[in-house]
Amino acid sequence: PPVSLIGVPTDIGAGHRGALMGPDALRVADIDKTLRARGLDVVDRGNLSGPVNPWLPPKDGYRHLDGVIAWNRATMEAVYAELNQGRLPIMMGGDHCLATGSITAVARYCREQGRKLRILWLDAHTDFNTSELTPSGNIHGMPVACLCGHGPQGLTELGGSKPAIDPSMVRQIGIRSVDEGEKKFVHEAGLEVYDMRYIDEFGMKRAMEEALTGLDKNTHLHVSFDVDFLDPSIAPGVGTTVQGGPNYREAQLCMEMIADTGRMGSLDVVELNPAYDDHNRTAEVAVDLVESLFGKSTLIRG
Ligand code: ARG
Ligand code: MN
Ligand code: MN
Ligand code: MN
Repeated sequence: PPVSLIGVPTDIGAGHRGALMGPDALRVADIDKTLRARGLDVVDRGNLSGPVNPWLPPKDGYRHLDGVIAWNRATMEAVYAELNQGRLPIMMGGDHCLATGSITAVARYCREQGRKLRILWLDAHTDFNTSELTPSGNIHGMPVACLCGHGPQGLTELGGSKPAIDPSMVRQIGIRSVDEGEKKFVHEAGLEVYDMRYIDEFGMKRAMEEALTGLDKNTHLHVSFDVDFLDPSIAPGVGTTVQGGPNYREAQLCMEMIADTGRMGSLDVVELNPAYDDHNRTAEVAVDLVESLFGKSTLIRG
């Protein structure tokens, strides 16, 4: 399908500043031209707007809750509009709190169209905190919980009712940093997690085969790609790096296996932080991987 790039320049849900420059870093790394070279119809819708990051301490377990809600409303509306035009939205963040708006829109669209939804959450973190569990108050650590109905009403009910999704729709890959209380909550909720221990033991291939089982023609696949999924040696340009992530080859395999399903209908690329990057190389790696998500492969086909 035709692709729409939507920039969401904010770091309002993060604990480090700079992810607001993510959309432009992806543009500088030629995300649009790269996708056009794959034969895709690509339109860059420009950037959404919203409140400036006030950079205040948390209140009642949340930092910048009102601002996070405002940015997520705008994201939800933009993503929903693209899906209804038959386009594949790429939400260029911005921090990962924005996946609440993006996935709320995708879930609503799937419900209305009678489609099944599978969400692949590529991340070092499970992002399943609540105001009671969070060590930081940063809402980018909470989007999966909010989507599953745990969180402030302004985020859990962005789409009008809650929960936006069921935990059974989610597969998390690359996980290696989960807070203590969060761990217990992830387990109770029954999220399907392919953590780094699993990938070390069984390989990226098996993790992805399992995460992608059960997709059919009627399944919409949403990929939420937090750039901190990647090992910091190839992706230093994020605020919350965690050692021991997938290397370049493992990440490429992950993306190629997603592309092979032919089911991806929407994508978030989040947490890219040029303030921590080295000459935009993390943005370039992210664009390489997005290229693979859209079918670029090293396979020689007849
Ligand atoms: N678990 C930590 C927290 O809640 C880190 C979350 C990082 N999330 C992210 N999207 N980078 O504060
Ligand atoms: Mn993360
Ligand atoms: Mn994340
Ligand atoms: Mn390139």
